[in-house]
Amino acid sequence: MASVKAGAIPVYQPDLSGNEKRYVLECLDSTWISSKGKFLGEFEERFSEYVGVKYSHAVCNGTVALHLALVTLGIGPGDEVIVPTLTYVAAVNAIAYTGATPVFVDSLPDTWQMDPVDVRAKITSRTKGIMVVHLYGQPCDMDALTAIAREHGIFLVEDCAEAFGARWKGRHVGTFGDIATFSFFGNKTITTGEGGMVVTNDQTLAARAKHFKGQGLAAHREYWHDVIGYNYRMTNICAAIGLAQLERAEEFITRKRELAAAYREGLRGVPVEMHGEPAHLIHSHWMISILVNDAADRDPLRGWLAERGIETRPLFYPVHTMPMYAVRFQRHPVAENLAWRGINLPSWPGLTDGQVGEVVSAIRAFFEDGNRRNKVASAGAPITTPPIIATVGPEHASSLGEFFERLNDFGVENFFHPHSLTVEEAASRAAYTGRDFYCVLMNGGKIVGYGMLRGWDEGYEIPSLGIVVDPPSQGHGYGRRLMNHLRAVAAERGARRIRLTVHLENAAAIALYRSLGYAFQDGEDGKLIGFLELQNSATAPGKESAG
Ligand SMILES: Cc1ncc(COP(=O)(O)O)c(C=O)c1O
Repeated sequence: MASVKAGAIPVYQPDLSGNEKRYVLECLDSTWISSKGKFLGEFEERFSEYVGVKYSHAVCNGTVALHLALVTLGIGPGDEVIVPTLTYVAAVNAIAYTGATPVFVDSLPDTWQMDPVDVRAKITSRTKGIMVVHLYGQPCDMDALTAIAREHGIFLVEDCAEAFGARWKGRHVGTFGDIATFSFFGNKTITTGEGGMVVTNDQTLAARAKHFKGQGLAAHREYWHDVIGYNYRMTNICAAIGLAQLERAEEFITRKRELAAAYREGLRGVPVEMHGEPAHLIHSHWMISILVNDAADRDPLRGWLAERGIETRPLFYPVHTMPMYAVRFQRHPVAENLAWRGINLPSWPGLTDGQVGEVVSAIRAFFEDGNRRNKVASAGAPITTPPIIATVGPEHASSLGEFFERLNDFGVENFFHPHSLTVEEAASRAAYTGRDFYCVLMNGGKIVGYGMLRGWDEGYEIPSLGIVVDPPSQGHGYGRRLMNHLRAVAAERGARRIRLTVHLENAAAIALYRSLGYAFQDGEDGKLIGFLELQNSATAPGKESAG
């Protein structure tokens, strides 16, 4: 992805131009800067009123809010909690922190929210709860999810980190489940810098949450603790900012909804999808997102916008594809498909109509024929210095070994590619002079990718292709560049076909390979086998020009 130019339109920026400064100065002047003070009580009380709950407890971020909610419900080892795979990772991590097992469900293609039919299918005798995540500000189907929880006698936790201001049939999200959480990180609809809230209508749960949040301090004896508690308290300074933000909540949400409507109107006729807004819900549009129709357009479009000073974000990667949760191979095809096609556009309430117009015009210009075609064809182009593809030689041995050790640290072999090398193996490969082919992709003197064609030497006519890109360097088109290089090498050396293997859940790689012409068939152990015919290499992308 190209770095965004100066004078950029950011994805998010908080508006702190209300009473924030005045209230913070009051904290400083009064010396009430820690986790006691008048702003804390006031923020919690006003927040309860706004959301329509009885009890709110302010905490230091949205992740600990989730952990606190789960601990409050007594969720722990041996329990299962159902959670959407298409979410920010914190929702899943919080389950893992308790020792419980996150059980992933797929998303609905139209709303992108967790699929109630899949939720029902995943319930076992160990299921203790459903973690509902109202993604990007759109409420989940709370009729269906509350019915499932009630029917099975399991807890419903609502992660409303992204959905402050969102309503389902007139009720604010966070009021449907047993307990709910919010985040006030700097890019959230209202912010406290870092901060979060745990809310509930249940007096017992509220008391338990408060107890665990404050180090498990017993009610009637000083310095006596009767549970293993946590220090998850918010400071008075953060609450002061939160209170000032809350005073402007309606203004922020109204503006964000106007922005979403303006984007929707401006992008009419462009090959992208946006959330609709059915009458029974209020979407707070924390992030205003689009889905491109063709996944191959996603990264080139992001690069195109970045070159024009417009910052974007990809949709979240489905958590089941991340190394620490990919141990059991799974597929969630809807979430994978959405994740690979989605882009979050600038969404902060201070955006001007003119800036929205700029973003819309840039997206429209991308889809004008020549621009899109050129951009997609050069998706593998370098971002900073031109990357160099070098045939592996002895000079690469030690840096290749280090590269693979780094990949092991990222757990890459779990989900991305089937081969990993030790330093010794890398050294022997670097010394290799036979027909199989190994190359490295260097950028700025550093190995950022590795590719190989193997199998010729074992007598196979069809070489197997494998590539791997350093995780911090992914998303820059290096994979595409390596693939095109290997294709050209295979064609030059007379191969008729190339073969590769990919894990089923690696949606990103599958989309890339498909866009390069690979056709897939089922393999073993949760893998697909892809084939690329090289007969027509006259029409294939050139060795470097397309990569
Ligand atoms: C869905 C979701 N849950 C939880 C969190 C965690 O909140 P925080 O960043 O305040 O820890 C976020 C934050 O970005 C989120 O988007």
